[in-house]
Amino acid sequence: MSWKKWSDNIMLKIGVLASGRGSNLQSIINNVNNDNLDIEIAAVISDNRDAQALVRARKYDIYTSFLSPGEYTDKKEYEQVLIEILEKKEVELIVLAGFMRILSPYFVNHYYQQIINIHPSLLPAFPGLDAQKQAFTYGVKVSGCTVHFVDQGMDTGPIILQKAVPVSVDDTLEDLKKRILKEEHKILPQAIKLYSKNKLTIQGNKVFVEDV
Ligand code: GRF
Repeated sequence: MSWKKWSDNIMLKIGVLASGRGSNLQSIINNVNNDNLDIEIAAVISDNRDAQALVRARKYDIYTSFLSPGEYTDKKEYEQVLIEILEKKEVELIVLAGFMRILSPYFVNHYYQQIINIHPSLLPAFPGLDAQKQAFTYGVKVSGCTVHFVDQGMDTGPIILQKAVPVSVDDTLEDLKKRILKEEHKILPQAIKLYSKNKLTIQGNKVFVEDV
């Protein structure tokens, strides 16, 4: 898996899909601005007009687009427009950072091994919505976050990076969410960096990670 097949001087362009707060987008922006991440955020796209992620992106003059699902007849038409924008912006890696829509096999196959997602649990435990709450309610002693490639399943693709955090009996759900989020903000930019430097190799469901 290698994105820059024809030149070493080209910067990876990423597209971030986000539906809400955008704190993970912010951590990517911060890493780019601190020269820790040698990539370009070519587009931030949301399905939510009021997403804070769009506000954050505009502040840095990053191209943004709001795509309202209600304006398209079906998911395929929606995703076709999404692909048109991403292609126009020459995006080669799509980062799902709190994007609340499930992408269809059509989209996932179009961007085979080019979509990554951040999830707030140690997958395969607690996939789906409210992962932190699921873990908290279950009473686990350790939780964490995962960056993984997106395949056709729900939070099932090959795992790139994970970070564990302890859970104490005195924690509130909010404590746990904060502790996990802090780690999300580290491993998502780290995974993008690894991808941008062609340090990830997928074999079956395993991702081999070379040191950077
Ligand atoms: C994060 O917890 C992420 O793991 C999950 O959605 C949340 C997005 O938060 N997929 P933010 O919008 O990046 O602040």
